[in-house]
Amino acid sequence: MDLVLEGRLLINGELTQGCVGIDNGRISAVKKVLRGDRRIDVGYRIVMPAAMDPHVHFRQPGMTHKEDFHTGSLAALHGGVTTVLDMPNTNPPTDRPRNLMDKRRMVKGSSFVDYGLFVATSMPRRLEGMAPYAAGLKIFMGSTTGSLLDNDDGSIRQMINKAMELDLPVSVHAEDDSLITEGEASSLKEHLQQRPAEAEFNAVRRLAALRAAGVNVCHVTRSEVLDMTAAAGMSSEVSPHHLLLDTGCGLGSGGKVNPPLRQPQAREALFRAAAVGKATMLGSDHAPHHVDEKAEEFALAPSGVPGVETMMPLMMSAVKRGELPLGTLAEMACAAPARRFGVPKGAIEEGMLADLAVYDPRETETIDASRLHSKCGWSPYEGREAMFPRLVLMGGELQLSRGEVCGERIGRDIKDATF
Ligand code: NCD
Ligand code: ZN
Repeated sequence: MDLVLEGRLLINGELTQGCVGIDNGRISAVKKVLRGDRRIDVGYRIVMPAAMDPHVHFRQPGMTHKEDFHTGSLAALHGGVTTVLDMPNTNPPTDRPRNLMDKRRMVKGSSFVDYGLFVATSMPRRLEGMAPYAAGLKIFMGSTTGSLLDNDDGSIRQMINKAMELDLPVSVHAEDDSLITEGEASSLKEHLQQRPAEAEFNAVRRLAALRAAGVNVCHVTRSEVLDMTAAAGMSSEVSPHHLLLDTGCGLGSGGKVNPPLRQPQAREALFRAAAVGKATMLGSDHAPHHVDEKAEEFALAPSGVPGVETMMPLMMSAVKRGELPLGTLAEMACAAPARRFGVPKGAIEEGMLADLAVYDPRETETIDASRLHSKCGWSPYEGREAMFPRLVLMGGELQLSRGEVCGERIGRDIKDATF
């Protein structure tokens, strides 16, 4: 056995003391006692699958003053995330085969974690050309950062059909653009008025009417939507900012994001629903904008908050406080995204890739943006309690040790890797 990792293993939602044996990058055995050439004994610390973030914006190409794959993946790794799916609203957008191939070439060799690339197009022919290399199709029903938009039922239906024929997962930004009002908002409350929950409800209602079973609804902000998606056979994704921040957070333009932060009661209801397992996946919607851009007056500041590095640490500290079961977190952050996007990760099980994260429940710290790794230079969670991973393995390779990066940029595109 190449490596044995011993500690409190999270298996089927329960913690039990045991050993994970690793050979050729995969989990080859899970037993109470195992012998191995190299051993890492982490004692009472928690050993769980590393997370997969199905929704990040790493900004390459075109906006690399905000982020790129080097810094974005470094942030992911420090946050216990070893697979990310990057969104297509870059400049130029990932909306045609040529741009996708350029992006693949550009990011190759620069990522510390495995990744997949989403595409966006309303042209079936282009989707055909991109499908072999794409992690999924993203549909924007509401305008947001970038110029991608498709809010027409006929076109959405056609693209979903095409994606299904090509066996390509579909994720939707579900805010009905026709229910979003233009104009200058000057506060989080006004931003919420311009992008009301009804825009989200209606987009999801329309998807349900289109019989879009199998489609994933991104960054759900309301607990009602988790019920609507489940009833329609769609999956759902919730983001840390909608679980932890609301219109009362006092962040001003720092809290400007699409869909918007909702009122405190709605946020609490969303958290409770996620904690009982109603959300399929957790996705950070890591949308870094530079600290100087976010410092603009509210109307001019771009929408989006960073989150890939703080997602698991914040949720692990919520687990520690008893607000969320660890098994539920592991299901939505690790197992569910891996299953949905066909990556053999996300569970401590023989045959899975050895992507593991070790957390020490006795070592929590407060978030200090100056110690995070995104280029954006700020965090909406400054000062909050967080439990960062002490150790991260990816494909059996030690990528992070004692909370510090120690690996190389060995991240692969999930469409290239022979997993
Ligand atoms: C995202 C961004 O900045 O790319 N912004 C955001 O507010 N979430 C785009 C998006 O996902 O809507
Ligand atoms: Zn997004």
